[in-house]
Amino acid sequence: MSTVVISGAQWGDEGKGKIVDYLAQQADTVVRFQGGSNAGHTVSVGGEEYKLRLLPSGILYKGTTCVIGNGVVLDPQCLLEELENMQKRGIDTSNIKISNRAHVVMPWHKIIDELGENLRGSNKIGTTKRGIGPCYIDKADRIGIRVCDLIDREEFAKKVRDVLKIKNLILQNVYNHAPLDENEIIREYQAYADKIRPFVCDTITLLNDQVDSGKKILFEGAQATMLDIDYGTYPYVTSSHPISGGVGIGAGISPKKIDKVVGVVKAYCTRVGEGPFPTEQLNEIGEKLRNAGHEFGTVTGRPRRTGWLDACVVKYAGKLSGTDFMAVTRLDILDSFDEIKMCTAYKINGEIINEIPASLKVLAQVEPVYETFAGWKTDISKIRRYEDLPANARKYLERMAEVTGISLGIVSVGANRDQTIVLADIF
Ligand code: GDP
Ligand code: IMO
Ligand code: MG
Repeated sequence: MSTVVISGAQWGDEGKGKIVDYLAQQADTVVRFQGGSNAGHTVSVGGEEYKLRLLPSGILYKGTTCVIGNGVVLDPQCLLEELENMQKRGIDTSNIKISNRAHVVMPWHKIIDELGENLRGSNKIGTTKRGIGPCYIDKADRIGIRVCDLIDREEFAKKVRDVLKIKNLILQNVYNHAPLDENEIIREYQAYADKIRPFVCDTITLLNDQVDSGKKILFEGAQATMLDIDYGTYPYVTSSHPISGGVGIGAGISPKKIDKVVGVVKAYCTRVGEGPFPTEQLNEIGEKLRNAGHEFGTVTGRPRRTGWLDACVVKYAGKLSGTDFMAVTRLDILDSFDEIKMCTAYKINGEIINEIPASLKVLAQVEPVYETFAGWKTDISKIRRYEDLPANARKYLERMAEVTGISLGIVSVGANRDQTIVLADIF
């Protein structure tokens, strides 16, 4: 197999970075195809921890091509900070390729993200305030500025002046905010452009040529299925398509050329930001999960909401993405639990339902049906073979595979690259 998509099956922070880094040992190329610096992907290797926002999680391998595809919204300031940080740590960043079609996150996107959230008050989404939604809005509104514009000095200055006329009217009259200075923005961004220009290319041609020559490519999803703008818990979602279908749009690869899909599943469940979460545990179990798992956001530092694994959500993610294998992460976090629950069905008014309700009003009424599993009460972080896992851990995993209809491909028992149990050939 040569093209593999890695997609989050829950509400994000499943450990996609860890799984991509692990599989990237075999990959020629790693591609981000959606989202932006709202992502926080952690990779731990040899006691070093790297927190990646825009850079693909293949960056730690010298010689691996790392592509930021056209579906990504690119904050140049954030990217340059990441690059500088990596270079300081001795990581080679010369193999980065940035799509000339990716949209650029501009200062007004970040300001409007924040002001819009304030305006929504108690209906706020709980965004990461990185300007993601406003940038995708401008893309759809056809007033976005793309990387090909950013690196063209005259074109960029003209676009900023044109768009800022509209944005300043909105900032002043809707949000009562001071207007932004066009010359200041042009100057700031032209300095970014000079640094970014050498990385920019037509990534569509690059990637399709690589696919045709049989190169091994990983497509690294950010966010997750339940945050997908169409399939997630709308409106409490992000503004892109984290499901595997997002690769076609966000990287310019035909869906016919995707070989395998891996869904990353945290062994329990977390969510940051607002919105429904049927298996949330607003009690001491939730506290225990948060403390045992150090569940605080990578990007914003916010405490993550915690709850039991929702197999209905994972099954739904599998259907939407055509998931071949699950990569179950953070199983070790459950080591100290006496008993573990898994939601295997939803009921409404006592009746089992077979779908994820579209209406949030209805979703709020679902009653999770739980199955209870005995804990294993053993440190599993040093186990490297599936058959060496405690029987209770295997029972839990096998039931997960049965309910979701998705095979187990990887089980992760720690943040480090080597804390990984492999059950299937993914590439
Ligand atoms: P992502 O956004 O999906 O890449 O996930 P995050 O990096 O935001 O959050 C996952 C966290 O879990 C990170 O701190 C990882 O280093 C860590 N992690 C990944 N897999 C495992 C695992 O199997 N066990 C433990 N204990 N930590 C893990
Ligand atoms: P990774 O890739 C978890 C959430 C935000 C908010 C909603 C919309 O690390 O899994 P946005 O800033 O995208 O407009 O926020 O989506 N969110 C994430 N939650 N992990 C992420 O990324 C997220 N990216 C966005 O908290 O609820
Ligand atoms: Mg994350």
